[in-house]
Amino acid sequence: MGVRSSAEEKKLLALLLESVSLARQREPMKASVLYFPFRRGCVALALSGKRELCGNLIAAVMGDAGVERLLFGEFFRCEPFALVKAEGLRPLAETWDLGGFRRLLACGDGYLREEATACGDAFAYSLAGSARGVRVEGSIAPSYWSREQIGEAAKLSGFRAETPDSRTVVAHSEGFYLAVKLSAPARFEVGEAEVRFEAPAPLAIAVAGARSSSAALSLAEEALRDPLAGRRAEQLSAALAGAPPPLARDRRVRELWRYCWYVLISNRCSVDHPALRKPFTMPSKYVFRHQWLWDSAFHAIVLSAYDAEMAEEELLNLFHAQKPDGRIPHEIFLSKAMCKAFWGVDDYSPWTTQPPVLAVAVERILERRFDEGFAKLAYEALARYDRWFSERRDADRDGLAAYIDYLESGWDDSVRWDGARERFALDPGRYRAAYPEARMAPVEAVDLNCLLYLQRALLSKLAPRFGGDAEAWRGLAERTAALVKGLMWDERTGFFYDVYEEDHSKVPVKTPAAFLTMFAGIAERDQAERLVEHLYSGFWTTFPLPTVSRDDPRYDPKGYWRGRSWINLAWFTYWGLVKYGFSSAARDLAARVVELMAEGPTCNENYNSATGEPLGAPDFGWSTLILDVIADAARRGWI
Ligand code: GLC
Repeated sequence: MGVRSSAEEKKLLALLLESVSLARQREPMKASVLYFPFRRGCVALALSGKRELCGNLIAAVMGDAGVERLLFGEFFRCEPFALVKAEGLRPLAETWDLGGFRRLLACGDGYLREEATACGDAFAYSLAGSARGVRVEGSIAPSYWSREQIGEAAKLSGFRAETPDSRTVVAHSEGFYLAVKLSAPARFEVGEAEVRFEAPAPLAIAVAGARSSSAALSLAEEALRDPLAGRRAEQLSAALAGAPPPLARDRRVRELWRYCWYVLISNRCSVDHPALRKPFTMPSKYVFRHQWLWDSAFHAIVLSAYDAEMAEEELLNLFHAQKPDGRIPHEIFLSKAMCKAFWGVDDYSPWTTQPPVLAVAVERILERRFDEGFAKLAYEALARYDRWFSERRDADRDGLAAYIDYLESGWDDSVRWDGARERFALDPGRYRAAYPEARMAPVEAVDLNCLLYLQRALLSKLAPRFGGDAEAWRGLAERTAALVKGLMWDERTGFFYDVYEEDHSKVPVKTPAAFLTMFAGIAERDQAERLVEHLYSGFWTTFPLPTVSRDDPRYDPKGYWRGRSWINLAWFTYWGLVKYGFSSAARDLAARVVELMAEGPTCNENYNSATGEPLGAPDFGWSTLILDVIADAARRGWI
């Protein structure tokens, strides 16, 4: 991806205008807006090579010609959605801005022009131009994890679809309806788990989702009459105008800044849902389409600089979902069917939690704006949550909690858990006695306990105000910190390691989780100095910080949590370095990560640590933590 230069913009505009006049001569459809004209004072964002678009629950990914994938929350996944079938297609130009996506293709001796846009719960796509014999093929289906599961997904979600006329499909999945309206008659094939369609170009397609079929239909009809580009651009531009101004001097960093705000804002959604009553931010509308616990904590941290109330709101569903035993769940699915297909649990949440970053987010929000009501709510929820860790994740009652499930750790496939998974496989019963749901030998993880230390410290600060026992929380916090230092530090290698709960032996894997001891302020000065040596050796890759030290034989720069780099870990480490006064290391880390993200700009889920190549989900929420790093680094004059 790249930001367009004005010369490129002019060239593209000329091409697009030329195509409009060609189209006007030969085709019946009205040429609509190709280049969205921003009014003065509007915030503009134009990127080249970007192919993702989203509205509220609706999201689409453009293919090389047509729409590769269309998603509606976790209820529908239409793939392909609208593939363009034509001989001799050649891309000429494409553009993405706050109005939507536009592309010009050569096709034989004619042209094709595509426009796609999304706003609210509707999406519109059109294909027009002078080329002849062009067809569009697509499908409408329920959400599924893998194609093989589509039949099971259809059953679990109660998928059904009908075609009331030759231009319309209405599909149902788990209480939601998706209406698809075409401008020309199509050939439909209605199956148990999928509807396929084929229609000739020129063609416009509008799609909308809603809680009732009539609402979905009228939204789709409206989107067909009045494509949504203008509304979308206005809404996004107004939202971006509310973002804090970029302090950085570098133009590319300023573009990255604006783009990351777009990512965070556009990932927000609201839905009429029993477990997700408040608006929240999806980690990525293209891949991760419900609410996750630690993701939302990170989102709230960034949002606190945008609007403290929005940041509070980001956490409310999670507090609301707290279980009677105090656990705050790992995730809240939009779709029970998807939760069932993934976890085998007939609910919106599984049995796990996730890294307790909530307290860090709460503290950040309260620093920005101390709202008594929110503070009380958070205090009470966190106090119950913390007790749950003591009761349900600390079988040896030493004050250090353990992860008993790799997915609970947030570091799904990490090398950190290889040994624990092997131990478990040899004798599951041994671990299930204390933890009936365990899927690995319990590991007292360094990052988990640093986060719990911070949670306990926050609880001790808030306790006097809300009638709690500050001393008890302080005592527990200090005990946690002392145990991290006492049991997890290895003097020989100068590093902090996770330990197995059963024997407190160290898990011999170096990961950036150790840097959370600086973030939490637990590491002693000389320990921190040794950590910085590791930062510049095992973790100093093209894109720092790989999720396992590169001297580990299992280090794979592209491996999921096995060597890729993630922005949340860079964020923790940046603030740890700042806290201990390692200014040049903090500056080096910020500069490297910002430089590579600005190259796109990209805001991906993770990056190849050896090459910097963006990987994983695009427009990933917690990668916007880089905004917090940029703000601080720019204030210090480092960027
Ligand atoms: C993946 C990550 C996990 C994250 C989730 C949503 O499962 O491993 O940490 O919370 O995606 O982004």
